[in-house]
Amino acid sequence: MTELRLEGLVHVYPDSGVRALDGIDLRIDTGERVALIGQNGSGKSTLARHLNGLLRPTEGLVLVDGQDARERTVASLAGDVAVCFQDPDRQVFSGTVAAEVDFGPRNLGWSADVRRTAVATALDAVGLAGDQRTNPYDLGDSRRKLLTIASVLAMGTPVVVLDEPTTGQDARGVARIGAIVRQLAAEGRTVVAISHDMTFVAEHFARVVVMRAGRIILDGSPADVFAEAAWPILASTFLEPPLAAVVGARLDLGSTPTPDAVVAALRARTA
Ligand SMILES: Nc1ncnc2c1ncn2[C@@H]1O[C@H](COP(=O)(O)OP(=O)(O)O)[C@@H](O)[C@H]1O
Ligand SMILES: [Mg+2]
Repeated sequence: MTELRLEGLVHVYPDSGVRALDGIDLRIDTGERVALIGQNGSGKSTLARHLNGLLRPTEGLVLVDGQDARERTVASLAGDVAVCFQDPDRQVFSGTVAAEVDFGPRNLGWSADVRRTAVATALDAVGLAGDQRTNPYDLGDSRRKLLTIASVLAMGTPVVVLDEPTTGQDARGVARIGAIVRQLAAEGRTVVAISHDMTFVAEHFARVVVMRAGRIILDGSPADVFAEAAWPILASTFLEPPLAAVVGARLDLGSTPTPDAVVAALRARTA
């Protein structure tokens, strides 16, 4: 399986001189579900792009299963870690939905039969099964984003990284992405997702890593990261806890109350 480790990772963009990552130490074990949150510009996408070798460290190390990622080509890393970009228009280039999703499996050298199944399964997962022949540019922004997620799923990598999968999605799209995260976890695959939707994060991830100015400022379970004691730290990177955490705190139910527990607590108060 695939363990990811970042050690003292620093990234300075050469053109702007921006120090986007300022010393990141992070270990993600096989099968973990990790949400990466933090204000815009805190370095989340830069971190994600190091996981598959798309960006290389200025300082520090990226280790995939203990091996220095610098010793591996981008093509070889692509078999382990698939990253879905934040902006779908930087990723989509084929003339049809099916060809787009088939691109990765074809590069991996899979047979036509295996590819057909992989493409159909991935498109089904994102709700685009009926759009195989559609031009990606006729899909609209939110479905084009789902298409890029399908492309990443189809490659069957042990690690899947999703950069802002929920941005621009309606409730059904967010629910689909939640189901995908659960399915990947059930298959023992690692999921790392960047999201601004705190409810989605609290519901679908076991671990939340909070970034500010290129550093990790919190790392824990949703219950810990969204607990009242952590709210000032969240506020320092312009995040608000999910509504459930605020309600839970008011009712002394902790930061991840179930709806039933909230209802019971309210009933007890008015009784
Ligand atoms: N291609 C790039 N060239 C120069 N600077 C960049 C580039 N991409 C991001 N940055 C800068 O690096 C910092 C972190 O950006 P990013 O990783 O995209 O943050 P996030 O995904 O958390 O919004 C920001 O200050 C951003 O302006
Ligand atoms: Mg980003």
